[in-house]
Amino acid sequence: MGHRSPRNGPGAVLAAIGPFVAYHPLMFYRPGAEAHGLPHDPLKACVAPRPIGWISTVSADGRVNLAPYSFFNMFASSPPVIGYCSNGRTPFGAKDTVSNIEATGQFVYSMATWDLREAMNESSAPVAPDVDEFQYAGLEAAPSTLVKPPRVAASPIAFECELHQVVELPSTNPDARNVLVLGKVVGVHISDDVLNEGLVDLTRVKPIARLGYRDYAVVEKVFSMNPPRVGS
Ligand SMILES: Cc1cc2nc3c(=O)[nH]c(=O)nc-3n(C[C@H](O)[C@H](O)[C@H](O)COP(=O)(O)O)c2cc1C
Repeated sequence: MGHRSPRNGPGAVLAAIGPFVAYHPLMFYRPGAEAHGLPHDPLKACVAPRPIGWISTVSADGRVNLAPYSFFNMFASSPPVIGYCSNGRTPFGAKDTVSNIEATGQFVYSMATWDLREAMNESSAPVAPDVDEFQYAGLEAAPSTLVKPPRVAASPIAFECELHQVVELPSTNPDARNVLVLGKVVGVHISDDVLNEGLVDLTRVKPIARLGYRDYAVVEKVFSMNPPRVGS
C-alpha cells in the first residue's frame, strides 16, 4: 500500500491507519459559516441510522395527533428516558406534537417498522392541527394504559411517556423553535409476536431508521459481541 500525497489547503488531514501513516483528502466545513459545496446537505447522512420516534399526542381539547421524528433516541434506562427534537414549524405554525406535549405533559412512542413505512411517511404530512393523522394515514389507534395519547395498534412496541423536560436549542429561524423534548417512560408495550425465547427479536420487528437525503434503512441482520474483559 503506497502513501497518498497530502493535498494542499484546509482539506488535507493526516490520518494514521494501522502501521501506516497516510494522507487522506477530507472535506471540512463550518456549518452555518461556510458552504459545504455538495449538491445536497450531507449533515443528516453523517449521523445515521437514526431511529424513528413515531410520537402520538392529544391536544388539551382532545384532538389526537401522530408524527414521525428521527431526531430521536433513548438517553437513560433507569428510569428510562427517551427524547425527540422538534425542528422548525409547519405552515400552520408550531408543530402540533411539541405544542400538545407542552399542554398535556404526555406522549407515546410507537416503533416504526418496515410493514408500517408508508403509513409512517403519510403521518408526516403537514396537515392542520385538527387532522387526526391516525385516520389520515389509515392507522388503527389502540388505547394506552396510563396516558391519554393512543399508540399505533399495528406497531409491536410502544412506550407511554410523561414529560420530563423541554430543552430549548439554538435556532437560525427566529420564528421557529428547535426543542429537545425528554420524557420518562412510564409504560412499555411489547407484542408477544416479536418475543423469541424471552428476547425482543428485531429481525421479526424490522425497525426502520432514517439516513440522509430521502434514504431509510431497515434492520434485517443482527450480530452480537461480548463486552471486553479487563484483567484476568
Ligand atoms: C422519517 C421522518 C423523520 C422526521 N424527523 C423529524 C424530526 O426529527 N424533527 C422534526 O421537527 N420533524 C421531523 N419530521 C417532520 C415531521 O414529521 C413533520 O413536520 C410533521 O408534519 C410534524 O407533525 P406535527 O405538527 O403533527 O407534530 C420527520 C419526518 C419524517 C418522514
